[in-house]
Amino acid sequence: MTPYPPEHLLHVLHEHQQQFLYISDQAICEIASRLKLPRAQVEAVTEFYAFFHRAPRGRFDILFSNCTSCGDQKLMQQLCDRLEVSVDQTRSDGLISIGQTSCIGMCDHGASALVNGLTITSLSEQIIEEMASLIESETPVSAWPTSWFQIGNNIRKEGLLLTESLEAGAALKAIAGRSSDEILNEITASGLKGRGGAGFSTGLKWKLCRDADSDLRYVVCNADEGEPGTFKDRILLNSHADTLFEGMTICGQVIGATQGYLYLRGEYRYMLDALQATLQSRHEAGLLGSNILGSGFDFDISIVVGAGAYICGEESALIESIEEKPGIPRIRPPFPVTSGLWGKPTVVNNVETLVAAARIALHGHQWFETSGTWQSKGSKLLSVSGDCARPGIYEYPFGTTVQQILDDAGAENVQAVQVGGPAGRLIGEDHFSNHIAFEDIATGGSFMIFDKSHDLLEVISNFTHFFAHESCGFCTPCRVGTRLLKNGLDKICSGHGTAHDLDELQRTAALVSRRSHCGLGMTAPNPVRDGIKSFPQLFEAKLLHKEMEPEFNLDASLEEARSLTNRDDAEAHL
Ligand SMILES: Cc1cc2nc3c(=O)[nH]c(=O)nc-3n(C[C@H](O)[C@H](O)[C@H](O)COP(=O)(O)O)c2cc1C
Ligand code: SF4
Repeated sequence: MTPYPPEHLLHVLHEHQQQFLYISDQAICEIASRLKLPRAQVEAVTEFYAFFHRAPRGRFDILFSNCTSCGDQKLMQQLCDRLEVSVDQTRSDGLISIGQTSCIGMCDHGASALVNGLTITSLSEQIIEEMASLIESETPVSAWPTSWFQIGNNIRKEGLLLTESLEAGAALKAIAGRSSDEILNEITASGLKGRGGAGFSTGLKWKLCRDADSDLRYVVCNADEGEPGTFKDRILLNSHADTLFEGMTICGQVIGATQGYLYLRGEYRYMLDALQATLQSRHEAGLLGSNILGSGFDFDISIVVGAGAYICGEESALIESIEEKPGIPRIRPPFPVTSGLWGKPTVVNNVETLVAAARIALHGHQWFETSGTWQSKGSKLLSVSGDCARPGIYEYPFGTTVQQILDDAGAENVQAVQVGGPAGRLIGEDHFSNHIAFEDIATGGSFMIFDKSHDLLEVISNFTHFFAHESCGFCTPCRVGTRLLKNGLDKICSGHGTAHDLDELQRTAALVSRRSHCGLGMTAPNPVRDGIKSFPQLFEAKLLHKEMEPEFNLDASLEEARSLTNRDDAEAHL
């Protein structure tokens, strides 16, 4: 068995961060020398990932989600007030740091936070109060109430994938004796398309990788699940890990790979031990390792855990991250199928895609094809959250209407739905009769509901801040453009925007989506563009009726100088 790589740079930095609360210059040198990596690489990685810090964090390091579904600013402020610390600061005695992080994938569990990397959900004022007392008494997190750390699946509707729990090895046994061509044909005939968002044909992806000329190939499972509002892979990793590993093994057999990697988002670290245990039991059952089920086929899987970078969900950034580098997307082509991990042909598939592939191998393509639409076969797992009575996981055949989902989730007075997360589409009532399908409304799985009491501009602003924060900074249109979008929207939201600012916002949005290097920048303007198109009245109501209002208020910015010099007379103003 390839063990969990204890010496992977991200893992070593994580251990160091946990133990010493930051990564010092000296630590960087020592780690670089121990791992035989350039010092500059270790430093660049430390600075790239949000979960590593160059200055000491508190002994209790709390990150509140700032997602519209699993974040709650009021509760964060309550804890700050109670422990006398500001957001993004470490208290002078080093006891506590409180900060914010992007969605942690707990949108069906209400307000959530990471405490020393562990997830606590369903936060309430009472829990915050108890938490503050535990922190003040320096009670280790391991002694905090276990119920706070329990994370249920919240499955509300089962379909093709969720109804049945596959016995370990069932799909591998079903394909025993079949050639890789036969298995590939089965996957291709099923019409399975990638569930990570882009919807590329899985059969074709596997074929392109298999046909690429190389001595080595790799299978990578993308379990980065960072799109705000998405948590469906969490459920599959939690309850269908065997099927997922079976899907990876089948992919390995088809393309001729002997090694696979599961890239697990850092926020899901709490599942690591269970996933390792599943890998171990598969080894013991002869379902991983050498000569799997006596077939002569060798295949192994290792897990790499990320460290708080949404961009690492983009497949080439993810590959960079597995290669122990900052997650900066590569220039494509070449695509991973011909040049992926360490330059070798690599299949990158989403968790749900690989689970579906294992099922297709077991039941055959007809079983899969009976569900869905002509262009979108099978089912889709949706992570439903926001203003509804029943948030959770819903599995639907493709072709289900948005309205049906809203009804099932008990959503009333709905103003808008964000389908596919901030990178997806913000739709209003006029689209509720549309269908979830690649040919209509495509989604990686996020389905966030906003009722009429919600300030949609605030939601759009939250998404715009998210992209500005998560831009990796590699290319100028995205690095600068996402900040311009954020600033422009903030100006409008605060009541200082004019018609000119709205035009500028649209111009910038068009430029960012056209000129950015990767999918993050290309989709970052979606919330602003959809918002202006579908809900123009929200923006117009905020505009000032004048030509132009300067973004920078020079007179206000001199306030500090006035107060330092104790002057407030007319001459001290512009
Ligand atoms: C910014 C960005 C973030 C992404 N995040 C994810 C993710 O968290 N999970 C995922 O499976 N795909 C994600 N993708 C899509 C992947 O790049 C890739 O298309 C996908 O993993 C391929 O798997 P599939 O063919 O099974 O869908 C992301 C893409 C972009 C541009
Ligand atoms: S578009 Fe944004 S996230 Fe993508 S490479 Fe450019 S700066 Fe990085």
